[in-house]
Amino acid sequence: MASIKLKSITKTFKDITAVKEIDLEIKDKEFFILLGPTGAGKTTTLRLVAGLEKQDKGEILLDNKNVSDIGPALRDVAFVFQYYTLYPNYTVKQNLEFPLKSKLRRLPRKEIDKKVSEVSKILHIEHLLGRNTVNLSGGEMQRVAIGRAIVRTPKVFLMDEPLSNLDAKLREEMRVELARIHLDLNSTFFYVTHDQIEAMTMADRIAVLNEGEIIQIGTPKEIYKTPENVFVAEFIGSPEINLFNAAIEDNKLIINERAMVYSMTDEQHRLISKYNRKNIIVGVRPEDIEITREKGSVNSFKSTVYFSQSIGAEDILNLKIDNRTIFKAVAPPKFMTKIGEKIYANFRMEKSHLFDIESKKRLK
Ligand SMILES: Nc1ncnc2c1ncn2[C@@H]1O[C@H](COP(=O)(O)OP(=O)(O)OP(=O)(O)O)[C@@H](O)[C@H]1O
Ligand SMILES: [Mg+2]
Repeated sequence: MASIKLKSITKTFKDITAVKEIDLEIKDKEFFILLGPTGAGKTTTLRLVAGLEKQDKGEILLDNKNVSDIGPALRDVAFVFQYYTLYPNYTVKQNLEFPLKSKLRRLPRKEIDKKVSEVSKILHIEHLLGRNTVNLSGGEMQRVAIGRAIVRTPKVFLMDEPLSNLDAKLREEMRVELARIHLDLNSTFFYVTHDQIEAMTMADRIAVLNEGEIIQIGTPKEIYKTPENVFVAEFIGSPEINLFNAAIEDNKLIINERAMVYSMTDEQHRLISKYNRKNIIVGVRPEDIEITREKGSVNSFKSTVYFSQSIGAEDILNLKIDNRTIFKAVAPPKFMTKIGEKIYANFRMEKSHLFDIESKKRLK
């Protein structure tokens, strides 16, 4: 098993810079997720690590060894693609055996049988071994594809959105399975996705990628609690963070011509006093707004319920103060509301995020 290091990696396709000066250090045995929107450069980064593309600049190290000039076959990585590429008209067993029969390895029959049996146990596909792959469901195929990657013990596993073609229920199941497989195998996973829930639930650490650049690296908690900029704040968290443009007036933030007059904490006031601007972006996550029937003591704003979305145990309220001041809050369990009803939204200022109006970076 191994660490992965990317040092100042750049990759350009004609006039598109897919990956810009990326630096990453993935630790041995880590479940590391590269998270970003479509076109961010995620697949390109994985393909570079696999050796399927060659970087224009920079170095790639596997297990502290520079592999920049080594071809894919000798890098000893396993790749699981978004579109599972099983051999049709072969059985599941034959598909799993394939990587073990490569010329580079040539394992004895007994060894191959043992490995296939171990892997099919881990993935719960023992009952499928004799089946032809064309008759499998999407979820079963994806398990076999993952099985084919883990059947040999490569240095690292590279996975490119392996769950994106599955339905919601299966995706959730497979999130748990993958996290468990990672523990069982005790190996390094470098996983790519645009799905923030996948990243939040499975990763030891996440790197947020946008337009070929790394914006932030941290544990899921760190990234959720202290997003580096507005992009990360919006990209992570469901329902999405509420963002407001605010004018600064002493220790108050004035939103939408006093639709909300927001008192800052002393610490936030100190932070803003140093900051020589008239405006700021303030972000508050929906779960950091408490809903009550009575007016609260501070930052409590009378709001109208204009829509309520149930997500099972709780409701997400879409609230309105005026036509411009619209936001989401999470209602406590059993808090019943009707459309048009007036309630109070109590913003927990100490949990709010302050960002520079121009650079969109977090104030610190
Ligand atoms: N072989 C190629 N030739 C030309 N441009 C490419 C090639 N591969 C990728 N690109 C471009 O590089 C950028 C990054 O692509 P990449 O596939 O790495 O993004 P991604 O983050 O994996 O996106 P998605 O979430 O849609 O899979 C895109 O603008 C893409 O069009
Ligand atoms: Mg991709």
